[in-house]
Amino acid sequence: MAQDDAVHAEGLVKTFGDVKALDGLDLVVPRGQVVGLLGPNGSGKTTTVRILATLLKPTAGQAFVNGYDVTKQSDEVRHSIGLTGQYAAVDEFLTGRENLKMFGDLYHLTPKYVKERSEELLSWFDLVDAADRPAKTYSGGMRRRLDLASSLIAKPSILFLDEPTTGLDPRSRLGLWGVIESLVAEGTTVLLTTQYLEEADKLANDIVVIDHGKVIAHGTAENLKDQIGGDRLEVTLVDPHKMSDAQAALAPIFGSDSLINESNLSGPVSGGSKVLVEAVRALDFAGIEIADLALRRPTLDDVFLSLTGHGAEDETPAPTSSRSRRGRR
Ligand SMILES: Nc1ncnc2c1ncn2[C@@H]1O[C@H](COP(=O)(O)OP(=O)(O)O)[C@@H](O)[C@H]1O
Ligand SMILES: [Mg+2]
Repeated sequence: MAQDDAVHAEGLVKTFGDVKALDGLDLVVPRGQVVGLLGPNGSGKTTTVRILATLLKPTAGQAFVNGYDVTKQSDEVRHSIGLTGQYAAVDEFLTGRENLKMFGDLYHLTPKYVKERSEELLSWFDLVDAADRPAKTYSGGMRRRLDLASSLIAKPSILFLDEPTTGLDPRSRLGLWGVIESLVAEGTTVLLTTQYLEEADKLANDIVVIDHGKVIAHGTAENLKDQIGGDRLEVTLVDPHKMSDAQAALAPIFGSDSLINESNLSGPVSGGSKVLVEAVRALDFAGIEIADLALRRPTLDDVFLSLTGHGAEDETPAPTSSRSRRGRR
């Protein structure tokens, strides 16, 4: 039932002039769960979040947040959610503490509550030392943390995080993941958008993959990786002319699914690191020298290539002969 889910959207369509940003998108976020909306640039992630946050009206379809209709009960929806965007909503010229106060005023919270909650958030997000400096002096990671803290001032039960770590360095990304994980442990429901399979994998129970405003796959990270054949083993040879010999030597491991790329040979494997040993033995037995051998986990690009025949960055279909692995399994 739509009312019981934290988010329940059906058939969302949004057009901007000639551009169809959303093309019948369905999405459910059960209470207490983290759902990752995974898709490349321009696939409709921000448009979805903005509709759910009542900042945009859908052209067609309907959506409920916390049981409230986003088009008819926008006040109730806004009071149920916190929103953090890829482009931080913090005011550059205000200090960290002043930013939090501004958001507290926006929600008409009492000054006493805002003061206490601000201290709690500043210390949780490791911003105590920087609290009285203008936000324009903050690093990218600090801004994101302040932005996230601002969206939590009213203790929302549902949080929308739109590409929370895009553009951050790996260390800040890890820090933010930790904070998000502790929010989730406290029972917050999260809808997270991301371009990174790794991030959705780390944080989300359930992943919805979108492309051109439509859902193209849905499942756990494991389901999605299994769909595209799980881990891949990549072998680089000392002598690239021996690629076909290596392919033959590794046939017992790869079956008929290996690919010869420009600089290496790769194929789907299961069984983890044991496979590495088997591959080394097989190549050694065939007298082929290895320059590099690596187990690689699938990326968003692999998921896209497999599901759509084109990469996440690439709008044109890949030539089906060499690259597309669609319809394998
Ligand atoms: N205000 C707008 N006016 C015109 N086109 C827009 C607007 N907002 C988004 N779009 C277009 O809608 C599509 C989806 O955009 P968006 O939801 O921002 O994708 P994402 O967040 O996944 O990168 C893109 O083609 C984008 O150019
Ligand atoms: Mg976006």
